[in-house]
Amino acid sequence: SHPIIFDTDPGVDDAQAIAIALRHPDIELLGLTTTYGNVDVETATHNALLLSELAGREVPVAQGAAAPLLKERHPPPVHIHGANGLGDIELPPVKGTADSRSAAQFIVDTLNARPGEVTLVTVGPVGNLAAALQLDPGITSKVKRVVVMGGSIREGGNVTPVAEANMFNDPDAAARVLTAGWPLTLVGLDVTHRCVLTGEHMARIEAGQGALGKVLAGSYGFYRDFYREFLGIDGCCPHDSCALAWLLRSELFTTQRGHLNVVTAGEAVGQTIFAPEGRDFIETRWSRTPLVEVCLGVDGEALSDWIADTL
Ligand code: BDR
Ligand code: CA
Repeated sequence: SHPIIFDTDPGVDDAQAIAIALRHPDIELLGLTTTYGNVDVETATHNALLLSELAGREVPVAQGAAAPLLKERHPPPVHIHGANGLGDIELPPVKGTADSRSAAQFIVDTLNARPGEVTLVTVGPVGNLAAALQLDPGITSKVKRVVVMGGSIREGGNVTPVAEANMFNDPDAAARVLTAGWPLTLVGLDVTHRCVLTGEHMARIEAGQGALGKVLAGSYGFYRDFYREFLGIDGCCPHDSCALAWLLRSELFTTQRGHLNVVTAGEAVGQTIFAPEGRDFIETRWSRTPLVEVCLGVDGEALSDWIADTL
């Protein structure tokens, strides 16, 4: 079983991934850490607590970043995830409260308590990881692996022609996290755009999951309207679940090692730049960053089926 911390800005596709993390027998969910992104951080925390309560679990939820490290915050994308992050469906009240620690402190404590064992999966802007690195740089050798849903190597962006949302929302934090020198895998739009959750998939999920299934299916409807209207797709991309799929079904993915960084200023802000290992480029600041692994391809059909079946 994989002990993980799941760092998230729920968000419709985040909610799907949280449901997998809460329910999958091969995942030991040690905690949810929250960030602004799809919603403000208070809403993210509320949604994280709600989803774990609906799954009948008491998982620690630690609240984190309310804004980017250095830049102004972009307004939340209410047309994609709704103002409440879950497609503006009516939500039951939340009983629990957040952990007293910050997300960054929770990450530091948890990694130090179980050195070498814990995977950090992040599916929002990565400010909490940057803050944890600042609190305790030693965590780079304590974490088992960092799995980042974000970026795009060959696929282009989803908020600008070159930038993916999680990178775009805090590029300065992303630059620190991607170049920190810890074992890291990037699961970006190159693979998440190959994965489509259809209405048929959702009908099955709603039938199988009680109160949690209702929230997943209801919020999916709103998210799907966005995909239909803006992207002309019938179905939606469960971006954040792909990070968990990589962890549990890595054989479906093709990956490459290389040097990775992110543009932090100018028109291309948020663009991830990747230099494959061993390519004889002239030296730039990009080619001196620590080696990481990026996902370049995936069996999209098998991935979509796995996510739908698992949910
Ligand atoms: C990412 O951006 C967010 O809106 C989604 O939840 C996902 O984490 C995809 O670019
Ligand atoms: Ca997300």
